[in-house]
Amino acid sequence: MKSIDQIDIKGKKLLFRVDFNVPLDSGIITDDNRIRAAIPTLKYALEQGASLILCAHLGKPKGKVVPELSLAPVAKRTGELLGIDVRLASDCVGEDAMKMAADIQPGQVIMLENLRFYPEEIGKTPAERGDFGKKLASMANVYVNDAFGVAHRENASVVDVPKHAKACCGGFLLKRELEFLGDALKNPARPYVCVSGGAKVSTKLGILNNLLGKVDDIIIGGAMANTFILAQGHDVGNSLVEKDLVPDAASIMERAQDLGSTLHLPVDFQHAGSHKATASDGVCTIDAIPSDALVLDIGPETIKEFTAVLKRSKTVVWNGPMGLFETPAFAQGSMSVCKAIADIPDCLSIVGGGDTDAVVHSLDLADKFSFISTGGGSFLQFLEGKDLPAFKMLKECMSK
Ligand code: 3PG
Repeated sequence: MKSIDQIDIKGKKLLFRVDFNVPLDSGIITDDNRIRAAIPTLKYALEQGASLILCAHLGKPKGKVVPELSLAPVAKRTGELLGIDVRLASDCVGEDAMKMAADIQPGQVIMLENLRFYPEEIGKTPAERGDFGKKLASMANVYVNDAFGVAHRENASVVDVPKHAKACCGGFLLKRELEFLGDALKNPARPYVCVSGGAKVSTKLGILNNLLGKVDDIIIGGAMANTFILAQGHDVGNSLVEKDLVPDAASIMERAQDLGSTLHLPVDFQHAGSHKATASDGVCTIDAIPSDALVLDIGPETIKEFTAVLKRSKTVVWNGPMGLFETPAFAQGSMSVCKAIADIPDCLSIVGGGDTDAVVHSLDLADKFSFISTGGGSFLQFLEGKDLPAFKMLKECMSK
């Protein structure tokens, strides 16, 4: 993939697809890491005398104008981080956006309104997407994709714009994601450990199946571990499980053994009577989960075992918390795993997914990790070994 420093962008108009899908609370951005992650590429382009037309989505407005999902706060924050004014167009391919794009001068930045206010952006087929991508492409001389978070989405701004753009390339954020998730994991230093958590095993089957045999150890925590525990024949009480996936969990355990990856499951838990509980009712072992309780975090013995595995590892990929970390009483497992990874000397440590990212940032440990991916679904799909639509299209576009 050609990156932005490999093509001539001097004085050119660039249409930048960025992933600024940040969390908002009553219009206030509560985590601006995704915006910060794109700033180096934007600054580089401005230093080259380019003018920038930024396009992004926010939330899931499903093709309708939802005023609460306007990119206004995002444009403001981007301007603050760049130190220049970022004006927001009131639409994406309408009169306002087209005029602002036509008038933009070198060194200036504008942002188009939420792409997903248009049904065409999220159309499932080329026909449903119509000429939305073509119109976006017509605003600029070069298309720059720096939006790893949507690399797995067949959205018009991801897959159609490159077809119509005069030239295209990837930004530095995209390049770094490829370097860490692609190149760095091709020949990982060993032991290579995957830590997988979160609520549902259904969203992790792909990554687990792809990493079996490639990694030395797989640590499984969070509610997704419950399905494995059920598959081992233990009673999980009222804990969250995906019963229909018990056979898949059993097959993963069997294949892990055959392929030489050691699977580590929790051996004890913090439990409570409801997922709304604010305090733990105590610790139980795997063979004594109370029938009227839910397990909501890994227990102290599990933390010890997981930490021992992590301590000797040289490469770690972590996705998904170990428990209901939003509730302080059930955050200990995720925090302990986070600290354990941060403490490993000379280890390539990669984190992906919004919740996992939130654990790292809440402990202020981001600089102790080698790389924090900006992707959620795209991170998982990349590590599942899928050819993501964004990369496919960029490659095609570059060879035209
Ligand atoms: C994300 O938040 O993971 C990306 O911005 C993609 O968002 P989406 O899941 O709404 O497509």
